[in-house]
Amino acid sequence: MKIFLDTADVSEIQKAYSTGLIDGVTTNPTLILRSGDTLYNVASRLLKECPNLISVSTEVVAETADEMIEQAKTYQPLGEAITIKVPCTIEGLKACKILSDQGVKVNVTLIFSVAQALLAAKAGATYVSPFIGRCNDNSFSGIELVRAIANAYSVQMCTTEILAASLRDVHHVSRCYTYGASTVTMPPSIFWKMYDHVLTREGLDQFQKDWESATLLG
Ligand code: G3P
Repeated sequence: MKIFLDTADVSEIQKAYSTGLIDGVTTNPTLILRSGDTLYNVASRLLKECPNLISVSTEVVAETADEMIEQAKTYQPLGEAITIKVPCTIEGLKACKILSDQGVKVNVTLIFSVAQALLAAKAGATYVSPFIGRCNDNSFSGIELVRAIANAYSVQMCTTEILAASLRDVHHVSRCYTYGASTVTMPPSIFWKMYDHVLTREGLDQFQKDWESATLLG
């Protein structure tokens, strides 16, 4: 089970990374825009400052496979964790196949169907990213999509990993892992909610009070 953060905010990533529980980071053009920095700078800082990350997704934006591969070359030298993120289009899948054959990690993004996930696996993708929240926003179940992709991959013995993305709450995170995602990428706000439970807090308060009373007795 792997936990990725879906953000380009390096200070937020560092804070969560210091827990030792974060395995990777995903970015997209929207998150890069929000960060106020360039994708190259964000990826470069992450690889230096968070050396145990196994994957940092850098998304290429281009019309053709050749252009995508050219863009990928900018990020690849940064380190082995660099994972080139391509869209699930014919050109994206062509780029995925060529890069995967060269041993480059590829994440095929914007996945909304089993057919797309199967083609991405056929193209040698390391990860496929079904967008759970956006499925739900469009009145079909993102969780069911994860389950269906996991079933198809199991029947076909695909080694591509399901990286569930576009998560909006902790409940969906738990269900994605339960139904076959090896990895979930989430905004830091969701990561910090995963450990928290009102009954844990109440139990701790009571134990603290009882500990203090017991100490007074002793
Ligand atoms: O990794 C993809 C994710 O950032 C998309 O999330 O919330 O924009 O649907 P969202």
